[in-house]
Amino acid sequence: MCGIVGYTGRDQAVTYLLEGLRTLEYRGYDSAGVEVVGADGALHGVKCAGRVAALAERCETANLVGTTGIAHTRWATHGAPTDRNSHPHRDCSGRIAIVHNGIIENFRELRSYLQRNGHELASETDSEVIAHLIEEAWRGPAKGDLVAAVRNACRRLEGSWAIAAVCADAPGEVVCARNGSPLVVASAEGGAYAASDVTPLASVTSHVIQLENGQIARLESNGRVTVYDEDGAPVAHPATLDIDWDASAATLGGYSDFMAKEIAEQPEAIERLLGGRLGEKGIYLDELSMSQADLAAIDRVYLIACGTSYHVSLIARTLIQTWAKVQVVCDYASEFNYEQDVMVTPNTLCVIITQSGETADTLTAARRMRGMGCRVFAITNVLGSTAARESDGTLYVQAGPEVCVASTKAYTAQMVAAALLALRLAEARGEMDHAEVERHYRDLCALPNLIREVIGRSWQDKQAAPLFRRAHSALFLGRGVNSTTAYEGALKLKEISYLHAEAYPAGEMKHGPIALLEPGFPVVAIVPEDRVHDKTVSNIQEVIARGAVCVAVATDGDEAVASLVEHVLWIPPVPDELLVPIVAVVHLQLLARYVARARGCDVDKPRNLAKSVTVE
Ligand code: AGP
Repeated sequence: MCGIVGYTGRDQAVTYLLEGLRTLEYRGYDSAGVEVVGADGALHGVKCAGRVAALAERCETANLVGTTGIAHTRWATHGAPTDRNSHPHRDCSGRIAIVHNGIIENFRELRSYLQRNGHELASETDSEVIAHLIEEAWRGPAKGDLVAAVRNACRRLEGSWAIAAVCADAPGEVVCARNGSPLVVASAEGGAYAASDVTPLASVTSHVIQLENGQIARLESNGRVTVYDEDGAPVAHPATLDIDWDASAATLGGYSDFMAKEIAEQPEAIERLLGGRLGEKGIYLDELSMSQADLAAIDRVYLIACGTSYHVSLIARTLIQTWAKVQVVCDYASEFNYEQDVMVTPNTLCVIITQSGETADTLTAARRMRGMGCRVFAITNVLGSTAARESDGTLYVQAGPEVCVASTKAYTAQMVAAALLALRLAEARGEMDHAEVERHYRDLCALPNLIREVIGRSWQDKQAAPLFRRAHSALFLGRGVNSTTAYEGALKLKEISYLHAEAYPAGEMKHGPIALLEPGFPVVAIVPEDRVHDKTVSNIQEVIARGAVCVAVATDGDEAVASLVEHVLWIPPVPDELLVPIVAVVHLQLLARYVARARGCDVDKPRNLAKSVTVE
């Protein structure tokens, strides 16, 4: 949540800063702002509510000449998304400015303290106190050293932060600090750079420094980057990360939106993940970093995640319990963190599933599990993310940068990753022989082409979209593993089209939700050829009898379903019914996108949301 960038070097800062904000905008887009240390020795800034495009327009007529600066794109937490609450925030003198991602939990006490001491605070944000604390330190104990002033200010903060600060009296310097919220810095051609994640840096370097909690970095205009620990001692070997993807991977590349691009990338992402995973000894999953004996001893698996990744955990539970015969508990991270009945044994494995690897609730849950002595294994997409760095083992799903706020390719890739984990556990526990593992692996390898087929049928989703255009609500139904497909379909639809959608296990309808139905009410039923097919068909009949308009996701050739419903989204036969969710959901992604577009919504940047949820 919130994206920050910083630059000092030989070029005009505003160029990199605006470009950086554009690539980080998926982290939040309530407001944006930029501050540059001008050649005249003063700070010059522009900030406004709204998107980066609006900021860029205003920058054209502003005097933002200078080679050092910071910028921010905001997801509002404290204070409405107004011009006044936009970052950067300045101190009283107007010579220090900061941008911040995170939450300052003790900001009320700090505000009162600062106001009592004569500071005038101009916004309602928690972040602004940081600028004033730096100001106090700059004038006092730090004696004009920006690194010392930032360190001094950070000592008084509670909560989480990634900060970048500039001072008109320290031209050619950007100082960054990290505690809890991600921040990377780099020395590259043209200067020194900082950003919330590697996306804006991929165009200038393939090598970045990942700041650790408590560290502070000084960026200088000659490109030098120095990292200091909490006590101010230089860190000789800060953690580094090589960016292994091309900057163009995070561009539209001819697609009209990132969602369309990312839906289309799913087959290749799964192929990358599966490539070379089966050897003579079985499933290759060294990322687990566990011996055969330790794997065999696992007696309980906790799967913890949020949002779409939580839906992955529901599918993973079925796969692990069915294939490896281990008891699995799934939990929303935000719920898990406050539960008192968590039962772990010495052989409990905790698996966190997180596309971004930065979701605050998930990270807190993982830390709690580690604190209880559990091994933590992360399934994530983002290289070097906090989840990866803090876990005992990490499986990268290698889906490439996911820019659209609505997760698509990470969802399907994470389900495949979960299937690999389930197979590895099944093998280690002696629940499957090599032939069986090989058969399941072959089934997984069939998925990319099946998804290609569904994508080739996107016209079916386009045709179904008008049924939802004027609706006020929609219902998604499924049974077994496909009740999860229903949950994910409903989440996709509501988050990008703002149409209320609810998902229910189809058999539960008659216990309450069926009362919602009236003529014309859209219902999406996931009814593939599987063991619960006929039961689901009966549920479809029940909703149609109440006048609902039913769209079904069904297997090719299912005339029984086709003759009942208004519209069919066809899927090819899937070799294992437990893998159907990985294919069927693609129709629901496409459907949500077409409905959102028909309703005039921005599919990549839905209102009120951010890609990476770094606050609890
Ligand atoms: C999915 O479309 C969402 N935008 C959201 O639910 C997301 O999956 C959730 O915030 C978890 O994110 P993570 O996978 O990066 O942890």
